[in-house]
Amino acid sequence: MIPTIGEPHDRVDGRQKVTGEARYAAENNLPNLAYAVLVTSTIPAGTITSIDAAAAKSAPGVINVISHLNAPKLPDTGGQQQDSNAAEHHHMPFSDDSVHYLGQAVAAVVADTFEHATHAAGLVRVTYRPTPARIVMEEYRSEAKERHGNAPSTFSKGDADGALAGAAVKVDQVYRIPYEHHNQMEPHALVAAWDGDRLTVHDSAQNIFTTRQTLAKAFGVPPESVRVQSPFVGGAFGSKGSAWPHVFIAVMAARMVRRPVKIALTRRQAYFSNGHRPLTEQRLALGASADGKLVAMIHEGIGQTNTVCDYVEGFTSPTRSMYATPNVRVAHRVIELDLPSPTYMRAPGENPGMYALESAMDEMAYALKIDPIQLRVLNHADNDPASGKPWSSKSIKECYAQGAERFGWTRRTAEPRSMRDGRQLVGLGMASATYPSHRAPASARAVMHRDGNVDVSSGTHEMGMGTATVMAQLAAETLGVPFERVTFRYGDTTLPRAPISAGSLTAASVGSAVFAAASQLKKKVIDLAVADTSSPLNGADPNGIDAADGRLVLKSDPSRGEAYAAILRRHYLDTMDASADEKPEANDPYSARAFGAVFAEVGVDPDLGIVRVRRIVAAFAGGRILNAKTARSQYYGGIIQGIGMALLEQTHLDRHLGAFANVNLAENLVPVNADVRSIDVILVPEDDPHVNPIGAKGIGEIGIVGVAPAIANAVYHATGKRVRDLPITIEKLL
Ligand code: MOS
Repeated sequence: MIPTIGEPHDRVDGRQKVTGEARYAAENNLPNLAYAVLVTSTIPAGTITSIDAAAAKSAPGVINVISHLNAPKLPDTGGQQQDSNAAEHHHMPFSDDSVHYLGQAVAAVVADTFEHATHAAGLVRVTYRPTPARIVMEEYRSEAKERHGNAPSTFSKGDADGALAGAAVKVDQVYRIPYEHHNQMEPHALVAAWDGDRLTVHDSAQNIFTTRQTLAKAFGVPPESVRVQSPFVGGAFGSKGSAWPHVFIAVMAARMVRRPVKIALTRRQAYFSNGHRPLTEQRLALGASADGKLVAMIHEGIGQTNTVCDYVEGFTSPTRSMYATPNVRVAHRVIELDLPSPTYMRAPGENPGMYALESAMDEMAYALKIDPIQLRVLNHADNDPASGKPWSSKSIKECYAQGAERFGWTRRTAEPRSMRDGRQLVGLGMASATYPSHRAPASARAVMHRDGNVDVSSGTHEMGMGTATVMAQLAAETLGVPFERVTFRYGDTTLPRAPISAGSLTAASVGSAVFAAASQLKKKVIDLAVADTSSPLNGADPNGIDAADGRLVLKSDPSRGEAYAAILRRHYLDTMDASADEKPEANDPYSARAFGAVFAEVGVDPDLGIVRVRRIVAAFAGGRILNAKTARSQYYGGIIQGIGMALLEQTHLDRHLGAFANVNLAENLVPVNADVRSIDVILVPEDDPHVNPIGAKGIGEIGIVGVAPAIANAVYHATGKRVRDLPITIEKLL
């Protein structure tokens, strides 16, 4: 058996991406293409009183100007997002004269070129009747309400408030995370083309099957008549999980002008109409006995949402499962503002929640004068405290131990401001990381060709995670064929159905389907061979047959066997295939999460307050690692985004206009190489026989979890200043 799974193969799509051969959504220049450019609202709340499109209509190249005055009314498709029902929005574009947030599309100009459409969009005159807008979350705290997202918004066990009141040692603080945007490289774009009642969409999406279903419902055609393709996605991080308004607008425009229509949002537009991580304000209260046992945990707070989307930031999710304590009370509530729709952003729920929890744990460690790792180990949850179920696997103690060892944690002197490097104050901090191991129904097909090549397909997504590479590895190893002989096709709704690629569930969900399809295909060929009197395997026990290097051989006598290709040829078969529809078991007796530990070393300039992350060491246990290179890459990406969250990233809100202010990549800061320096990722081996058929836990999101609190804790250790309000900017340290 050639080891294939786990091997650090290069990305199969790497060459296409670096040579520019990969075609992204906006690069589909269909014949007779028209271009739509959006006109967006300049007020956050109110109604449109008039739209004067006369000048735009007579501008060069303009084909049509679309608004609520002439657009077909689309039915609300809310609730279509079956796989992940928390981010649907309900105000269909151009359905009426109402304005719900600044940046909402109020008209679209369609022209023969992008330049003509852009020019004419500037000529559309829109007048409004503004109504008082709700913009600043803090002003509406008393209106916080419960709204269920993917999980109930409240949970309690024991008497947390009573236990906190009587606790020997207490930490009770409020932590704040600002609005943040995904800032993926490729802005949102699509090309929509109708052919009679058949629709083809080239999108940049992480949820093509739901987009297909949503468009079918909105435009009154059967889902089979809609084809959504998205073979390459230049980053998403959650921002491409929904069919946002521009998707409907392009499809509507294409139908109205009877030409294919492209919409490529400007970077600025993408900040207002494609989701963001909402502002959250979280109270985290911990009570402990003098020997460090947690006796109470309270986690409650608010996050921004609006009236036209369903999104809820579930930041209390990790607190329900992270540490053992008899008394817990959590509640995350929302405040509806006249601001753009939030959505999931890398590690929704867990990432914001763990910032609060892991900061509070650090504060508790100081209050108790206990080592932060020791405090966490003391309160280790042997079963899932939320469900009472056993873990499918949990290796967080190994993560603490291996991370601490590699990082040199014992070098740390506990006292704040006790470590220096020249003038620099040096701080060492750590935090735990966790993310649930989700899985959703997925289908896959495997086809063996008579030349021995294998095609495997599932309509999933490749947003840079390495999906295409690891699925080929999984099929190659399962079938016992060389990796180079396997092609994985994805990103197209004509392929077997796959779920949304979010919640770190792609590898587990699609991988389980690929594994099943490949296993069934192998069994089919084995059955054919053992029944065939011309085969050297005739009469053998099917369970005694192994596959390697494109051949089926007897386990007891590897010299007896034959190539897959020979079997197909002898039976005059061009192909053999197998399909699988896989879904998680309904009543899983286990609770499944990935865990990790993040260690950060910072240097802080004592006069200027400049923080540099000198090193990150992070240890993660993610079940079976399918490809060590792409897995590391996922963790690196998450950690880098976590450095940004800790020190740089925030989208400022103009409190008078209700507008996001720094809506370009020059002012919306993300980490660059100079901010990153050294990241050392430890892949902690973990064997999980329960989590799913392939034993792999999702790893795309856990990489960011724990990074911001580890850095914040390191900054406290360096400076003695506890910043509970991200990002940790210079002025907060001076
Ligand atoms: Mo991820 S934020 O669930 O795409």
